[in-house]
Amino acid sequence: MAGSEDMGGEKGGQHTSEAVKTVVVVIAMQAEALPLVETLQLVEDEQISVFPSGVPWKKYSGEIDGLDVHIVVPGKDKTLGVDSVGTVPCSLLTYASAVALRPNLLINAGTAGGFQAKGANIGDVYVATEFANHDRRIPIPVFDKYGVGTIEATPTGNLIRDLKFKEGKLSTGNSLDMTLQDEEYIKANDATVKDMEGAAVAYVANMLAIPLISLKAVTDIVDDSKPTVEEFLKNMSMAASALSNAVPLVLKYVSGKTVADL
Ligand code: ADE
Repeated sequence: MAGSEDMGGEKGGQHTSEAVKTVVVVIAMQAEALPLVETLQLVEDEQISVFPSGVPWKKYSGEIDGLDVHIVVPGKDKTLGVDSVGTVPCSLLTYASAVALRPNLLINAGTAGGFQAKGANIGDVYVATEFANHDRRIPIPVFDKYGVGTIEATPTGNLIRDLKFKEGKLSTGNSLDMTLQDEEYIKANDATVKDMEGAAVAYVANMLAIPLISLKAVTDIVDDSKPTVEEFLKNMSMAASALSNAVPLVLKYVSGKTVADL
């Protein structure tokens, strides 16, 4: 994590030497979350919620491989009825879930656009090694860096190697498309994948010193001539099934380990 240094064997204040017990998986879109809820046979809280009344957020919970696992989704926009994608809903959801459930590991799973120039292919699942923003342009000294907000990922080299994931830097912005200015920032961020939530979840995880693993399945190639929206919609369910394979593998791998083992 940003500015991390060893603090009595703990990275950046994160408790990396305790066994992982409670895992919160933050997923922006219902279509990405539901296949995984089904695979893991998690149960939705319907009567009693850990969240304030009236919020559209949903939580699905169960015990998997000895872990308390909770998948949380930001739910449907109250006015428009579509998934509440983007940084604001997911940062609020991550914060509220972390305060209520006290996870010792967060996972952010979702889709991303990939850069073929950096080796990304449709269907790849990437673990983010660094998070940054590409649509927070503040050209004033120091605020410029704050805007980009680079955060190092929790190191998980063993997990990446053993589960044969790809790794790369993730750049986040609140748009599915990419303007020329976004592109310039994404290149400066050296990103292989771009999404709409990762850096926001990382901001909360970093603030609360909770280790985070980000798993992003590539639905579309950003640096080719194919239209992003068509590719994204076409490959969405394939990406959801890639995530419903990847997340259970990660949970199994993490079970009985500390974050420092990862
Ligand atoms: N999620 C899937 N594809 C994406 C893209 N091209 N940009 C941002 N988020 C995405």
